[in-house]
Amino acid sequence: MLTQIIAHRGSKGTRPENTLLAFQAALDDGADGIETDVHLSKDGHLIIMHDETVDRTTNGTGRIMDLTLAELKRLDAGQSFDPLYAGASVPTLDEVVQLLIQQNFTGIFNLELKTNRIHYDGIEALVADYFNHHEVPFKLVYSSFYGKSIERLHALQPDVEFDSLFQAKQQTAKRLHAEHVVLGYHPDIRWVRLHWLLLPKVQLRPWTVNKERDMRFCYRHRFAGVITDYPGLAHRIRVKVQG
Ligand code: G3P
Ligand code: MG
Repeated sequence: MLTQIIAHRGSKGTRPENTLLAFQAALDDGADGIETDVHLSKDGHLIIMHDETVDRTTNGTGRIMDLTLAELKRLDAGQSFDPLYAGASVPTLDEVVQLLIQQNFTGIFNLELKTNRIHYDGIEALVADYFNHHEVPFKLVYSSFYGKSIERLHALQPDVEFDSLFQAKQQTAKRLHAEHVVLGYHPDIRWVRLHWLLLPKVQLRPWTVNKERDMRFCYRHRFAGVITDYPGLAHRIRVKVQG
């Protein structure tokens, strides 16, 4: 099995992160999967963005939880990356899913619940409800840094794959794996580098694997996947290492 190439926030290295442009670029680069992050707007819409606030990636300010969908839709999410992409909007979960359906995407759709800083009330039920009402051609994979979100969503959709995200502390991931809630870990590549001699026997998809030497390391060890800002580069290196 080849190591899966998962495009982090779309093709974050080459397009404005978490926009439809970034997801389209990831597909064009032949990514095996797409990773993205979901939050909840003031009026209960599932919003695709990395940060809890719109300040870094758009021309607006404020927390997603304090803005309505209409307010979020007025923002420009492309300009700050490159004026070339001015006019790109903040997508909803549904808009991303519809793009992937249109493009006949059958790879991995890794949805990260961004609930570790703000515990959006009811977000797990909304996500489960969305996917229970939409038939999708891709493989859904959920992840979160927040163990409670994983447990809540797992109770609602026990047949979906879950993986634990962590930077350095693997205690919650270890417990959730022992309880058969998560299948594997999505750890920081720096943690993997420090612990690789004693790596647990679980499925690993480290992030954010952007350097060529880290890509080669993950490919040589035949990890399940790499989560990268540069799916095009990851592809070229994989051909050299894994054929
Ligand atoms: O899912 C992997 C990675 O996205 C986790 O970190 O902060 O980029 O969402 P972050
Ligand atoms: Mg993420």
